[in-house]
Amino acid sequence: MSCPPKSDDLVFFVNGRKVIERNVDPEVTLLNFLRKNLRLTGTKYACGRGGCGACTVMVSKHDPVSAKIRHFSITACLVPICSLYGAAVTTVEGIGSVNTRLHPVQERIARSHGTQCGFCTPGMVMSMYTLLRNHLQPSEEQLMEALGGNLCRCTGYRPILASGRTFCVESAGCQKKRTGKCCLDLGGNDSSSLSRESDICTDLFVEEEFQPLDPTQELIFPPELLRMAKNPEKQTLTFHGERVTWISPGTLKDLLELKAKHPEAPLILGNTSLGPAMKSQGRVHPILLSPARISELSMVFKTSDGLTIGAGCSLAQVKDILAEQVSELPEEKTQTYRALLKHLKSLAGQQIRNMASLGGHVISRHCYSDLNPILVVGNATLNLISEEGTRQIPLNDHFLAGLASADLKPEEILESVYIPHSQKWEFVSAFRQAQCQQNALADVSAGMRVILEEATDTIKELSLSYGGVGEATIGAHKSCQQLIGRPWNEPMLEEACRLLLEEVSLPGWAPGGRVEFKRTLVVSFFFKFYLEVLQELKKLVKVSDSHHYPEISDRFLSALEDFPVTGPRGVQRYQSVDSHQSLQDPVGRPIMHLSGLKHATGEAIFCDDIPMVDRELFMVLVTSTKAHAKIISIDLSEALELPGVVDVIKAEDIPGTNGAEDDKLLAVDEVLCVGQIICAVVAETDVQAKRAIEKIKITYKDLEPIIFTINDAIKHNSFLCPEKKLEQGNIEEAFEKVDQIVEGEVHVGGQEHFYMETQRVIVIPKAEDKELDIYISTQDPAHVQKTVSSTLNIPINRITCHVKRVGGGFGGKVGRPAVFGAIAAVGAIKTGRPIRLVLDREDDMLITGGRHPLFGKYKVGFMNNGRIKALDIECFINGGCTLDDSEQVTEFLILKLENAYKIRNLRFRGRACMTNLPSNTAFRGFGFPQGTLITESCITAVAAKCGLLPEEIREKNMYKTVDKTIYKQAFSPETLIRCWNECLDKSSFHSRRMQVEEFNKKNYWKKKGIAIIPMKFSVGFAATSYHQAAALVHIYTDGSVLVTHGGNELGQGIHTKMLQVASRELKLPMSYMHVCETSTATVPNTIATAASIGSDVNGKAVQNACQILLKRLEPIIKKNPGGTWEDWIEAAFEQRISLSATGYFRGYKAYMDWEKGEGDPFPYYVYGAACSEVEIDCLTGAHKKIRTDIIMDACCSLNPAIDIGQVEGSFIQGMGLYTTEELKYSPEGVLYSRGPDEYKIPTITDVPEEFNVSLLPSSQTPLTIYSSKGLGESGMFLGSSVFFAITDAVAAACKERDIVEDFIVKSPATPEQVRMACADRFTEMIPRDDPKTFKPWSIPIA
Ligand SMILES: Cc1cc2nc3c(=O)[nH]c(=O)nc-3n(C[C@H](O)[C@H](O)[C@H](O)COP(=O)(O)OP(=O)(O)OC[C@H]3O[C@@H](n4cnc5c(N)ncnc54)[C@H](O)[C@@H]3O)c2cc1C
Ligand code: FES
Ligand code: FES
Repeated sequence: MSCPPKSDDLVFFVNGRKVIERNVDPEVTLLNFLRKNLRLTGTKYACGRGGCGACTVMVSKHDPVSAKIRHFSITACLVPICSLYGAAVTTVEGIGSVNTRLHPVQERIARSHGTQCGFCTPGMVMSMYTLLRNHLQPSEEQLMEALGGNLCRCTGYRPILASGRTFCVESAGCQKKRTGKCCLDLGGNDSSSLSRESDICTDLFVEEEFQPLDPTQELIFPPELLRMAKNPEKQTLTFHGERVTWISPGTLKDLLELKAKHPEAPLILGNTSLGPAMKSQGRVHPILLSPARISELSMVFKTSDGLTIGAGCSLAQVKDILAEQVSELPEEKTQTYRALLKHLKSLAGQQIRNMASLGGHVISRHCYSDLNPILVVGNATLNLISEEGTRQIPLNDHFLAGLASADLKPEEILESVYIPHSQKWEFVSAFRQAQCQQNALADVSAGMRVILEEATDTIKELSLSYGGVGEATIGAHKSCQQLIGRPWNEPMLEEACRLLLEEVSLPGWAPGGRVEFKRTLVVSFFFKFYLEVLQELKKLVKVSDSHHYPEISDRFLSALEDFPVTGPRGVQRYQSVDSHQSLQDPVGRPIMHLSGLKHATGEAIFCDDIPMVDRELFMVLVTSTKAHAKIISIDLSEALELPGVVDVIKAEDIPGTNGAEDDKLLAVDEVLCVGQIICAVVAETDVQAKRAIEKIKITYKDLEPIIFTINDAIKHNSFLCPEKKLEQGNIEEAFEKVDQIVEGEVHVGGQEHFYMETQRVIVIPKAEDKELDIYISTQDPAHVQKTVSSTLNIPINRITCHVKRVGGGFGGKVGRPAVFGAIAAVGAIKTGRPIRLVLDREDDMLITGGRHPLFGKYKVGFMNNGRIKALDIECFINGGCTLDDSEQVTEFLILKLENAYKIRNLRFRGRACMTNLPSNTAFRGFGFPQGTLITESCITAVAAKCGLLPEEIREKNMYKTVDKTIYKQAFSPETLIRCWNECLDKSSFHSRRMQVEEFNKKNYWKKKGIAIIPMKFSVGFAATSYHQAAALVHIYTDGSVLVTHGGNELGQGIHTKMLQVASRELKLPMSYMHVCETSTATVPNTIATAASIGSDVNGKAVQNACQILLKRLEPIIKKNPGGTWEDWIEAAFEQRISLSATGYFRGYKAYMDWEKGEGDPFPYYVYGAACSEVEIDCLTGAHKKIRTDIIMDACCSLNPAIDIGQVEGSFIQGMGLYTTEELKYSPEGVLYSRGPDEYKIPTITDVPEEFNVSLLPSSQTPLTIYSSKGLGESGMFLGSSVFFAITDAVAAACKERDIVEDFIVKSPATPEQVRMACADRFTEMIPRDDPKTFKPWSIPIA
């Protein structure tokens, strides 16, 4: 092999230390370099596409133009290491450590309870830290902006913002800071029991205890880098890798020369377009030209007629430049700049805006581009440069469509973009609609511009440009031409819509789907523009009163307002501990998560942060590309020849059992879904393994039938298990006696767990006795251990599973990790070497399945007063291709369907469909969030039919007295009713209901909705054997205590709660105690940490162990009551008293007899209620969450900070399920949505503007540890209050428009659903396709 040419040294700094890389590979990203080369594992991998912010670090660079140091946040997963020449990188480890000094950002996020699993925390910390480096006292708006690109799946964001807010300049909002009285107190009715309680706390942390921010303590920009920037030693830097050469010229002349020499080489700036494209298409560019050091590309010129911005400026810089222009120039000149600014606020997250360049954005010509449509209508010009000289081309549709005649020549580059000022009588606007408000690619974006003849309403020039409705940004030239000379009035609007729909046409099968929605947006946006211009004209008329313009009715004005992004406010209330409780006793206090500080410094070790073990190999999985097929052949020859490839693990290599007969670990002969694991490559590095899987050739023969949808499964009688049924009363008879009957359908889409830490495992074979150590991210290590044992055919006692912490599970790490553990273990045994398997986000989403999509039919019979007499529900869940947990999910679904309602005659039936999709599995709430949506939808249907409000129907039909459920389990609904009443009261529901109605009368295009939902959530597994737990507590001779138990730390703070229990029982401060990990060697035969009861049952076991120990110590303590703990332990050791004890909890009895339809399946219920208010934009389908109030019955919370965190986090996750999270499948069963770009979990801007959570005080449950309740899952369903508030608003719109309700409910209530439900003249205009005439881009599977 020939030697690669010599590279230059890559010099940069990380955390104040100089890094010199001699032979750097340009394909290496900063994230990999930090994690692998520098072992700085605080920076996390979660998506690899710039979409989640887990890998955020700060980069500081000397800016040659301003001669200042610029600090900016970036996502390290997209940053090529070579782009960092001369830069200083600061990672989470560089700003503080638990061992030395914590940075205030780190301290505050932890102490404000802003960390749960902690996987997102380093990224959050670095986004906030960078903000503070630039603004010592940021505004709330800046804080929201800084965190907009960081996802958190656990916390619901509120506590993260609370920590950030402690740095902000004090802002209006909650009154608490200024008056000492919170907004909830001011707004609510004071007669409630919550306000009457004197022992209610609203503080979860003490701000005064935080250390101040001291900017003098920050790392300075390395003087050496400053010298390098000012006196560059070398003009052109070259870094040669195995496949790619990176060239970074120092002058524009050199760059142009290089471009002429390598015309095919792309320029690489932010790499936010190039990087993801190279990854997804597997494309390699042998030469990359980096113009990062060319200052000419960062120049900005302001002239009397416009603004020229260098193509190298980042979008964040462009935003600042435009803001400056807007503040300096009269409004009429800045129309285009304002429009651009509007979109720059919501385009991606802050990190991407910091990285992405204007040039890269324009040249990438993404069809979804937010800026290009505005630049087109704003008549922007591209200034090109090459060795030949300079020239200008217009930024128009031809350029954006890539027409050679309108494009750059291969040797040309874009130097800058010229954007002219606007003029009087010129109006420019921008529009976009995405799945959520921030950090989401637009479904449709648009730029619109009109010039009117002076002081008239005659159109002189019109320009309309759309993104998202074709392969490129599209201009509506013909329509615009035809409208010139027309007056700006209603007939013109009508005509324009007609023309636009003809010209900007989308075929029914268009990629991206949502076709009718997009068509509607094309005209809805134009209508908004029409109104905006009229409104602006009104202002101008005051100046030149020469013309009359059409009036806009006041009721229509609401079409004009966009929903602003505002930081959420709210109060968290909980019962304070009894005043007699010892100060040392931590139970009931808001103790910080044990790992909080380590999460915040990046020192908390997750599975993939464990250093490489000697001779470790990397495993990558090969999955099926077919939904149902016979495997004809697998050709591994090419893959095995690649450098670094050690082996390919196949089903034949499994020494023991290959999973179950109908659920194989590795496919044999046949595949049942796209994403099924067929084999696995093991190689020396992850890069080599990933390259090898591309070379494996698998041939298939398609098999019939192929079933994806529930409908098809029903048709083919394709089910995974028998029907589950519960019945009470006489349903048929009841239907005959009721006043009215309604029948309806409910479709609930699936949900991806989107735990931030993808599935990962390390298997280390030991030299002796076939022992294996497995480090794995799981909720159920005992299951992993058992599965590995049967797969390898070795006894369980040789296998030890270790779980330090899990970066989020939500049910997705109950069953699945065992599959990955077992496959990796086969690899480890076969190769005799340790194996690391870390799933990419794409693979994780493709392979692992998620929440079951559901289709339900109901028939409800009721009296005219709203009393429901009979309810018949039949539902089907899409289980995917194997059984997994589908039978239990169906059971739980049926058991829980009645929710809070007492209906005498009921029939609930459920079945799990077998389809050719990846198997669905456990997910927080386990069927309840989907199923109960049917029940609540019945309620709204009954309300609509009776002409009553849904809350009246809810109240009327709710359990009122001690009663029995449909499965004959006795319970008292007292707490349920208290929650409901508190919620009505605290949310001032009735007065707000009236305000909503008032608002709706006055506004046609915006509607508000409000809903209150009760909840009765059963906790536990419905099987006695699942309700057991054990703990092992050691006291060492220095007095320190090691607590181990069977629960896994998933972020829910179980270890913190366990130490609180141990602390109370041993009467010893928590500082004496430690939990090191969960291991099958210390506590065997454990049950999955799931079903909300982890802390309950393990808490009881820890209590038992501590009580045993204390009993043993009692005689010693009695003898020496004045002694210290250490004295007693020493004495105990001297007296040969065992200082180690196993605690055990036999658990709750739970059973269900399905034959008889009765049982006692659940140990207890968690009650709650939530009220949400929203406002929808009927023209776009967007919504704003105005307020949510949650009352949750936590009984005596073990730790209110953790419990409120669980309620908030699960509520936001539920809100995601019901509003934004949408899985899209191709007609061939391929999951499209495989990353944060396509699958939208809630972001920080999705949190309700006012978000209040109260734990109901003084309720008791004698069953559980210290009368606490498990709150892990229940909040999920309360997210449906947002869904029903949206449907309430939609119903208001439909009523006004005389649209007859069809009782078909679809979740999630995406902008598409909302827009299309609010039918109006625009939805009527659009062409509709006959579904039989084309193959759609995606298929609904529920
Ligand atoms: C997570 C994420 C979210 C996003 N969200 C949005 C969004 O909401 N709205 C939106 O509109 N966009 C969005 N984008 C796209 C983003 O705006 C573009 O990727 C970005 O602007 C490209 O700029 P870049 O500097 O990173 O380009 P690069 O990836 O570095 O380069 C892209 C292309 O441009 C060419 N190029 C760059 N500069 C020049 C030049 N001066 N002369 C000639 N050719 C040049 C390169 O050769 C290359 O082919 C998102 C991207 C990501 C990763
Ligand atoms: S891992 Fe980098 S943004 Fe998600
Ligand atoms: S704490 Fe944010 S993802 Fe877990």
